[in-house]
Amino acid sequence: MDLASVQNEIERVIVTEEQLQKRLKEIAHHIEVDYKDQDLILVGVLKGAVMAMADLSRHINRHLDMDWMAVSSYGAGTQSSGVVRILKDLDKDILNREVLIIEDILDTGLTLSWLTENLTSRGAKSVNILTVLRKPDAAKVSVNPKYVGFDIPSEFVVGYGLDFNEKYRNLPFIGVLAKHLYS
Ligand code: IMP
Ligand code: MG
Repeated sequence: MDLASVQNEIERVIVTEEQLQKRLKEIAHHIEVDYKDQDLILVGVLKGAVMAMADLSRHINRHLDMDWMAVSSYGAGTQSSGVVRILKDLDKDILNREVLIIEDILDTGLTLSWLTENLTSRGAKSVNILTVLRKPDAAKVSVNPKYVGFDIPSEFVVGYGLDFNEKYRNLPFIGVLAKHLYS
């Protein structure tokens, strides 16, 4: 199965590769200004944030640390349960440091509100969020990302780190899966 056939499984592209790269470059420049002379650590949430972390960080022209966490909300499928457990914790101490969480998508916000609270309790000086995508349901929760790539409709999307049953993460754009593949 080659990439051309994988791309044929996408019904509609929501954010193109060019739009993603342009927006991340813009955000990178905001980060350079906003965190000037501060002790910045980017915390990527595995696995979805891998693409954004790789592309964003290469546009940030300053020293920074990168670390990773893997968290999982219980249950599979397309719904968040709100119960979060840590599968892989940070390697580094974040006491008195400026933490910027890098996440693929903000949907119900359950994952990010839990993560923000958890990292704040470790004594970080600040904990902010960059999310590549935000869905409308995010308006219902108290998660306020400092940087948002794109606001998208409330549809299940894949690509650029986002998966459906662990597949499609490697697409360079964000798209909606063809319906016959999940219904
Ligand atoms: P939340 O806790 O509901 O905000 O959801 C966070 C997690 O749910 C994300 O990190 C994704 O792993 C997953 N998720 C939410 N919406 C989508 C989607 O449209 N496609 C793929 N994964 C999604
Ligand atoms: Mg996921």
